[in-house]
Amino acid sequence: MKLIICKNYDEMSAAAANIVAEAMKADPACVLGLATGSTPVGMYKKLIEMNKAGEIDFSGVTTVNLDEYYPISPENDQSYRYFMNENLFDHVNIDKTRTFVPDGQAADPAAACEAYEEIVAKVGPAAVQVLGIGQNGHIGFNEPDTALEVKTHVTGLTESTIKANARFFASEADVPTKALTMGIGTILGAKKIIILANGTAKHAAIAKMLEGKLDTSCPASMLNLHADVTVICDEAAYNG
Ligand code: PGA
Repeated sequence: MKLIICKNYDEMSAAAANIVAEAMKADPACVLGLATGSTPVGMYKKLIEMNKAGEIDFSGVTTVNLDEYYPISPENDQSYRYFMNENLFDHVNIDKTRTFVPDGQAADPAAACEAYEEIVAKVGPAAVQVLGIGQNGHIGFNEPDTALEVKTHVTGLTESTIKANARFFASEADVPTKALTMGIGTILGAKKIIILANGTAKHAAIAKMLEGKLDTSCPASMLNLHADVTVICDEAAYNG
């Protein structure tokens, strides 16, 4: 794994945005794998600025997001579809029909996962997959467990994740208890992966991942199987 240690959140966001921008310049019709959460918000802000300055063009880009709560409507301001519109898609020249997020209100969520896995296969491997990391080492909603799923699947959220995400909802009881998420194999299908982390709360998860072993209690450690992963973190996440 390559490691970029940044002074602060702003530097981390700029480093991540530059890698995404390079991929877009190299192939204006590229696929981007995108993530939600508070971590990538600064990166999205920088990508919006670059787009407005005419440095990068989203018109030919396709995006596939990692995950979505279940059940949730796309109009719910806590849905990841809503997040992506608010934090990126509504501010750049992207064709929204080429932006994919798992269907949080599918009548048959297992079938929706299969369909999503097919979409990811059909659009082709992401030039860059952006990831955050949970305090518990999750990537997407692949939570620590004795076994991890390979493909897009329905999953329950752990207590730790529900607590971590409760800050965005009116109360902890409002956090959906399930999600649809790309599996570890889906994520590893990207050509390049960048994983972002800031703040001391992420230190334990980052340190575990960087041990270089495969440990299902830290799903991010599975990224050690991929040949092109760049960890971009601030000093607080790296040093603890
Ligand atoms: P966060 O979430 O960016 O809001 O910390 C990251 C994650 O849970 O993957």
